[in-house]
Amino acid sequence: MSFNVYVTRQIPEEGINLLKKHCQTVEVNPYDRPLTYDELLRQVKGRDAMLTMLSDRIDEGVINEAKSIKVISNYAVGYENINIKTATAKGIIVTNTPGVLTDSTADMAWALLFSIARRIVEGDKLTRAGKFMGWSPLMLLGGDLIGKTLGIIGAGRIGTAMAMRSRGWCMKVLYTTQSNKNAVLEEMLGAKRVDLEMLLKESDFISIHTPLSEKTRHLIGAKELSFMKKTAYLINTARGAVIDEAALVNDLENRQIAGAGLDVYEEEPRLKPGLAELDNVVLAPHLGSATVETRTKMAVMAAENIIAVLNKQKPKNCVNPEVFT
Ligand code: GLV
Ligand code: GLV
Repeated sequence: MSFNVYVTRQIPEEGINLLKKHCQTVEVNPYDRPLTYDELLRQVKGRDAMLTMLSDRIDEGVINEAKSIKVISNYAVGYENINIKTATAKGIIVTNTPGVLTDSTADMAWALLFSIARRIVEGDKLTRAGKFMGWSPLMLLGGDLIGKTLGIIGAGRIGTAMAMRSRGWCMKVLYTTQSNKNAVLEEMLGAKRVDLEMLLKESDFISIHTPLSEKTRHLIGAKELSFMKKTAYLINTARGAVIDEAALVNDLENRQIAGAGLDVYEEEPRLKPGLAELDNVVLAPHLGSATVETRTKMAVMAAENIIAVLNKQKPKNCVNPEVFT
């Protein structure tokens, strides 16, 4: 009961209340901003557990200060912000929040897809600026979805949920995956597994759902972008660095692709020069899991992972199970 937990941002109170029920000390970052690196170094000291955000860089330096930490519970499904190798070497269990954010993130990908294909943001700007002079036959023409080809890069949980939603538009689905063939997509949608080049060449809408790793960093660079149709759209709700953002800016500037819908950036929260000036891109501030329901479920899940470890049970969502051997 004398557990000491630090939470690096304010999260829905359901998670904090759960922690308080099981731990004596639960301290939450009081500021409406991420901790600085120095603050992070200071705050891990003497704690039994940390509940961290994807914006916290939990590198070797932080882990070296985390002498009493038993668990780092990341409030995200992605965990490339944590040096897993060092954590594992120190016997620290790392957990994430998979599953609960799958639907909200897939919805976000569709929201971006519609926004860019139907030019919602451009239209909103124009309307607010008082430039709407009445219906016009050639104003802000976008692209249709019906019968088009959707390419899913990384058909895991979120990629699958994204693809399943395409049934409403009778889309042909292509996908790539690092793991086995996706039986759900193949059986329910007649989806086809192809290589990345084929997917880029054939798809009208491409949506990225891979985690960020050394394998997927800049998976979509200048060469890959050049495979895309001039009429195709690129959607990214995964991690910014999966795309070479400077190359994307260049392609969008030169109208080499029709547009992009982005929720994530290579160096969040900074954008590559030129990106914000483009009208053929919709930019969201990393909102994939940002619904009341999802963030609440994530908070409870992240708290439960901590409580399990502190009570010497296996947490449900461990990402470094090798730590137990
Ligand atoms: C959000 O980007 C997450 O990884 O949960
Ligand atoms: C993440 O949750 C994924 O597998 O897509």
